Amino acid sequence: MQRREFISKSLKSTAGLFAVSVLPLGLAACGSKEKTMDTSTMASLGPLAKLESGEFPKKVQYNVKIKDAWTTQDLDGFVYVNKQEDGSLIIMSPTCTHLGCTAGDAEVSSQEKGVRYFCKCHGGEYDEFGKNVSGPPPRPLDTFESVIQDGEVYISVLSPVKREA
Ligand code: FES
Repeated sequence: MQRREFISKSLKSTAGLFAVSVLPLGLAACGSKEKTMDTSTMASLGPLAKLESGEFPKKVQYNVKIKDAWTTQDLDGFVYVNKQEDGSLIIMSPTCTHLGCTAGDAEVSSQEKGVRYFCKCHGGEYDEFGKNVSGPPPRPLDTFESVIQDGEVYISVLSPVKREA
């Protein structure tokens, strides 16, 4: 996937002007319909204003209860969020695209060389935007599309978006 496509799927910084948005700002501004969405099975990443502020990249924790007909899953997890050149946010899964271990923070010495996330299982390395830069991971970290409702940012944690290498 090209960087441009990747950006278009990410959260735009001013999309919070709309009650609900799953579209980049430009598209959302054209399609002026506001709608409500059931976010009860989505994970909240907190207020947009808070997500957009502070240091980047950042780690954001979530907890979500996902119900189906018979069971309720209580999931705790986290995502990585970074601000891109155009001001939009990218929300990334920490799940390594090699075999599914969790990619954590790289050592400071590696970060100085552009490696932001490191997967200990087999030495996978990713940059601050989740691009795979070394080791066995075949593609960048997956991302999440976001929904903004009443100023809160939500993601569907069971529906990450794959990016191409
Ligand atoms: S599972 Fe991450 S490098 Fe293999």
